[in-house]
Amino acid sequence: MVAARITVNGKETPLSPAAPHTTVLDLLRERGLTGTKEGCAEGECGACSVLVARPGVNKPTDWVAVNACLVPAAALDGQEIITSEGLATVGEPGTPPTLHPVQQEMAVRGGSQCGYCTPGFICSMASEYYRPDRCAHAEPADGADADAHADADAEHGPNGFDLHSLSGNLCRCTGYRPIRDAAFAVGAPTEDDPLARRREQSPPEPAATVYTQDDSTFLRPGTLAEALELLRERPEAVVVAGSTDWGVEVNIRSRRAHCVVAVDRLPELRSLDVASDYVEIGAAQTLTEIERRLDGSVPLLAELFPQFASRLIRNSATLGGNLGTGSPIGDSPPVLLALEASLLLADVDGEREVPLADYFTGYRQSVRRPGELIRAVRIPLPLSQVTAFHKIAKRRFDDISSVAIAFALDIEGGIVRKARIGLGGVAATPIRALSTEAALEGRAWTAETARAAARVLRGEGTPMSDHRASSVYRSAMLGQSLLKLHAHTTEAVSS
Ligand code: FES
Ligand code: FES
Repeated sequence: MVAARITVNGKETPLSPAAPHTTVLDLLRERGLTGTKEGCAEGECGACSVLVARPGVNKPTDWVAVNACLVPAAALDGQEIITSEGLATVGEPGTPPTLHPVQQEMAVRGGSQCGYCTPGFICSMASEYYRPDRCAHAEPADGADADAHADADAEHGPNGFDLHSLSGNLCRCTGYRPIRDAAFAVGAPTEDDPLARRREQSPPEPAATVYTQDDSTFLRPGTLAEALELLRERPEAVVVAGSTDWGVEVNIRSRRAHCVVAVDRLPELRSLDVASDYVEIGAAQTLTEIERRLDGSVPLLAELFPQFASRLIRNSATLGGNLGTGSPIGDSPPVLLALEASLLLADVDGEREVPLADYFTGYRQSVRRPGELIRAVRIPLPLSQVTAFHKIAKRRFDDISSVAIAFALDIEGGIVRKARIGLGGVAATPIRALSTEAALEGRAWTAETARAAARVLRGEGTPMSDHRASSVYRSAMLGQSLLKLHAHTTEAVSS
């Protein structure tokens, strides 16, 4: 078996003697690549952003920006990464390197002061620079013109640059205007750009990793059957996909595991099928992949994703992970409850389908048995026509919800034929608002109905008071959310 190694900026580096829990960030810095910085070590600041060659959505390979502080280095065995040091082109000895176009724009537009955040911004910006469907909109570098594209807005540049690609990067001293100027000034990659050309080739295959140091092991099985067999033998193993949750446990709470099993590249967990009566999403599809592949065809999911977390997190996080942790404030369960999704749970004896409404049994507990994996999430079709996701949080983006409410209503002839409402943050588990659904079904979709149902909705769950919100506030937000939905739908109908 080949010794575990990562290709960093074109050069292979062995993992050994790093411990299996060592993050990509720590490995890079230990090997002298100190451009990648640690700010928070929990996925909040983006100072550690690096580029990883991953299976692409529109091309064979995408350059995807991820938080190096959260990903175990062993998870990238056999993979290719680029750091801020690897973006510039090194010239002849004695001559300075030629800056990458995003570095050049950041430099000339004053996008960096102390520079601590800059390598992370550069990597996130480079990922967006190479996004194939952005490049289709971009002018050549010297032709970028801020007034040239009428569809640009405050968050989307004339060059197709989506500022949300930087939503996981914080800067404490420059201010964001020069950074935005730099982002909106980059052009399209040239034809001889090596990273643009790399996108045309296949991504690295996942390695069959067995990496052991002392008494801990990182394992990457090649198939679902192998993974399930492993979990049967070692039910105590920690299962990771994007590691956005486990990485925080390792860094902030110093948790360690004897055995970590990676499932993020299992082919059986990477499907995305649209059939006549359902959409089935593999549990290890990242949120970014789902968002781009579905391209708005499930509007409630499209509304969820921008509010879920930063682009950096969504580039690694998966639905399987969000459901597997069983958090009562995960953002996907309310939406999936409203969509009447079910989970396909697999173990060595086969597969079973469990409605999400029956999945959660208590605080961070579920019907998932030891040794069982979430293989996929299935959403029945057709979808309800009226849907909305309201996340109440202290910040517009990249925050944990105080309350989350998802609605899916069928309204025909002005009558609510079916109502499905998923709630997060108001009980020990995500829940359906069953009493409110009953208060809506069969009634005219009028302000009076909405007000009466909002009173019922305020009484759903058992919200608690904590540092994010009081129980009274949480209940009030539930009611307001339904009134807001009614106002929006009737505005849309009358306009
Ligand atoms: Fe802050 Fe990684 S160090 S996101
Ligand atoms: Fe100092 Fe961004 S330049 S934190």
